[in-house]
Amino acid sequence: MSGARSVLVAGSANLDFVVRAAHVPAPGETILGRAFETFPGGKGANQAVACARAGGAPTRMLLALGDDDFSKPLEASLRDAGVQLELIRSHSEPTGVAFVCLSDNAENAITVAPGANSSLRPEHLPSLDGVSHLLMQLETPLESVEAWAIAARDAKVSVVLNAAPAHPLSAALMSAIDILIVNEGELAELSGVRRRIAKGIAALDVPCVVVTLGERGCCARIDGQYVLQPAFKVEAVDTTGAGDTFCGTLVAALSQGMPFAQALRRASAASALACTRMGAQTGVPAHAEVESMLAANTASQSTDDLAAYCGFD
Ligand code: RIB
Repeated sequence: MSGARSVLVAGSANLDFVVRAAHVPAPGETILGRAFETFPGGKGANQAVACARAGGAPTRMLLALGDDDFSKPLEASLRDAGVQLELIRSHSEPTGVAFVCLSDNAENAITVAPGANSSLRPEHLPSLDGVSHLLMQLETPLESVEAWAIAARDAKVSVVLNAAPAHPLSAALMSAIDILIVNEGELAELSGVRRRIAKGIAALDVPCVVVTLGERGCCARIDGQYVLQPAFKVEAVDTTGAGDTFCGTLVAALSQGMPFAQALRRASAASALACTRMGAQTGVPAHAEVESMLAANTASQSTDDLAAYCGFD
């Protein structure tokens, strides 16, 4: 859609209940945690906040919240970031929640009770006028994600899917995607190829695939070319929402016409910064902080090491 520059995020919003503990419990294990806090979260809302905070991209979000107190901090966080809400209010389902166990080495295990997120339907998609990119995840009903993707493709809006949490996708949905963003586990689920990133990417029939690799960095295939971006070095305290910060920042940059490799580098810097503070949306850095990190240029490993890890020889 020529001249269109705004981003529409269609997805989930959850209130995150976070307990910090020495480690993530194994099945059947009970552990004593320490501090308990709540934070605004949900993959969709986190990505919308990241997109808006990246600057430059007017950001709207289609979301569903319950008619309850848990919805209030979620609405406030999105509005404070400058996200324009396309809000569906459910009177039968509660606001979505996520239970996050956060370990001392900054890893997490998350269980989501989707609640109102499940009430988002195909017909809730708002006008796509002026929208350059539609950004979605998989915490809302799959049939809605598929219908929104097809509608956006018909309207010549770029369709970006962060296929998280991992789930098989229909051929109809796959064929409507322009950019697919996955982590290693999600890549394996979609491609059927385990532990071989280059082969997994090659197996997916999508114009652009981006694979996030945590503290290693990320890689992508776009227009048949491969791009590698080593991670920026930080001391991580909470990785919750780091992938969401990556997705929102990447799409914000692409919607402003930034070249792909540059947008990938910017998204990597923002997601590294997000790991240095607590909370999914509270962790999303401001535009100026990302600029400083880009200027400092503290990539953690060489492109050669990343290429070897991914299996690009
Ligand atoms: O990606 C992190 C998010 O996953 C959390 O904010 C939680 O709400 C779940 O949606």
